[in-house]
Amino acid sequence: MSPDSELFIGLMSGTSMDAIDAVLVDFAIEPLRIQSTYTQPLPESLREALLRLAAERSTDPLRCLGELDHLLGSAFANTAQKLLDAARVEACDVKAIGSHGQTLYHSPGGDAPFTLQIGDPNRIAQRTGITTVADFRRRDMAAGGQGAPLVPAFHSALFRHKDRNRAVVNIGGMANVTLLPADPKQPVTGFDTGPGNVLMDSWIRQHRDERYDKGGAWGSSGRIRPQLLARLLRSDPYFQAPPPKSTGREHFNLDWIIGQVGTESPQDVQATLCELTAFSITDAVRGHLPDVVEIGVCGGGAYNRSLLKRIEANLPNCTVVSTANWGLEPQWVEGAAFAWLARQTLRGLPGNLPEVTGASEPVLLGAIYPGRSPAS
Ligand SMILES: Nc1ncnc2c1ncn2[C@@H]1O[C@H](COP(=O)(O)OP(=O)(O)O)[C@@H](O)[C@H]1O
Ligand SMILES: [Mg+2]
Repeated sequence: MSPDSELFIGLMSGTSMDAIDAVLVDFAIEPLRIQSTYTQPLPESLREALLRLAAERSTDPLRCLGELDHLLGSAFANTAQKLLDAARVEACDVKAIGSHGQTLYHSPGGDAPFTLQIGDPNRIAQRTGITTVADFRRRDMAAGGQGAPLVPAFHSALFRHKDRNRAVVNIGGMANVTLLPADPKQPVTGFDTGPGNVLMDSWIRQHRDERYDKGGAWGSSGRIRPQLLARLLRSDPYFQAPPPKSTGREHFNLDWIIGQVGTESPQDVQATLCELTAFSITDAVRGHLPDVVEIGVCGGGAYNRSLLKRIEANLPNCTVVSTANWGLEPQWVEGAAFAWLARQTLRGLPGNLPEVTGASEPVLLGAIYPGRSPAS
């Protein structure tokens, strides 16, 4: 271990509930170096229990909440430990873990906005001995923000270009964009555009019992149905609502689709959901940074070739690339972002962008769960 290294771990499990992604990041090498990665698929039983609880179909919800918080905390801790073992790095050489947690409910509107992430950070700190920063979103909400998206500050630190207007599109369960104007006087903005993979994932699970549409192959065997597309876009005010805005599974899910499809074939619906996802992203990018020239795509959606093709087709004057072309593989961007956010907090620096979340001011995010040796 180099004495000059500055190691952090990021732990991410997003709304897709597919896996826990763990990234070991060294910030001593500018702007950062991914030292090691590890992904731990979520066991189907855990995933189903989470979805049942989130959909309010548990018979004993408080007990279920407590148990899942425990089980996920242990799963996060195990994943961090496996990452360290694979990288042959000692826990004492890691400054901190940034753990996003598993979102069970995100409700940024109404009289009492809240967002709920679980995966007990006490267990992560206790099991690994590493100081853990978690619960990032609620401080931004307490400052009047949406609590989301939080990745734009990281995107800006890593991907902003001095000559070219860029956008970063993160396609997880939901999709969010970060708009990075080249002009340093222009603010960085961003918001959730709506569904990412969630609608396509739900639809293929319903019809073919598969977790996702690999490469977008099934969808590309169908035809985009313009009337269905127009109906879906028109039916939901979310798409045209001005930022700040953020969303989750409570809003975009299987029921959202079922309420609106007619007699179209399942493949045609999948093709149309792919187009809806692409269009809602590109329309948002065009509307908020019209002279954008480059788009970097990250998150699991970057591996869906059909989706990328539709994004390209909708933005003919733009180069669409994977963030791998900008130095960071799509799968690890969000995990690395939470490693970076933990580092911001330990350095006493804010992690939110008020222009993005709508918070009244930049704030230090998260709560610190001390490891075996105090955080420095
Ligand atoms: N090869 C692939 N082809 C199509 N879609 C993929 C592929 N790999 C991953 N995905 C999509 O990415 C999703 C996971 O993306 P991820 O960024 O982990 O989302 P989240 O942050 O919500 O967990 C999967 O559910 C799937 O829809
Ligand atoms: Mg995931």
